[in-house]
Amino acid sequence: MKLLIINGPNLNMLGIREKNIYGTGTYADLVEFISSVCEKEGIECEFYQSNHEGDIVDRIQEAYERVDGIVINPAAYTHTSVAIPDAIKAVSIPTVEVHLSDINSREEFRKHSFVSPVALATICGEGFEGYRKAILLLKDHKN
Ligand code: DQA
Repeated sequence: MKLLIINGPNLNMLGIREKNIYGTGTYADLVEFISSVCEKEGIECEFYQSNHEGDIVDRIQEAYERVDGIVINPAAYTHTSVAIPDAIKAVSIPTVEVHLSDINSREEFRKHSFVSPVALATICGEGFEGYRKAILLLKDHKN
């Protein structure tokens, strides 16, 4: 089984940005965490981080017929992008949406996700652990 892990804008700044909300772990720590989860589960994973909406759309399209699942934290694009959920629908790859913070208990504008309707599940407010849950969910979904 192969998964694509996509992280959107400013997630490369983890460990620096708003530590009170996103914690002290860096993006490199997140990659290490996810790699160890995948290794334990016998899952192959690819990582992609971008601050650009179109590049994320391109990467989702490239995954067509190449991966069994996508874990995506669309970050700020969660609340603004129509192109990202359209790309997920276009490739028909099972996708789980993850947010480190609890988007439902923050500002009003974070409560709406354009990605949730096309995702198998949305996991938020569990920090790095949310990515583990998303991976296990996709593994279960495949079996
Ligand atoms: C985020 C939540 C978004 O609202 C925010 O724009 C982010 C990160 C999260 O992981 O909690 O950049 O997706």
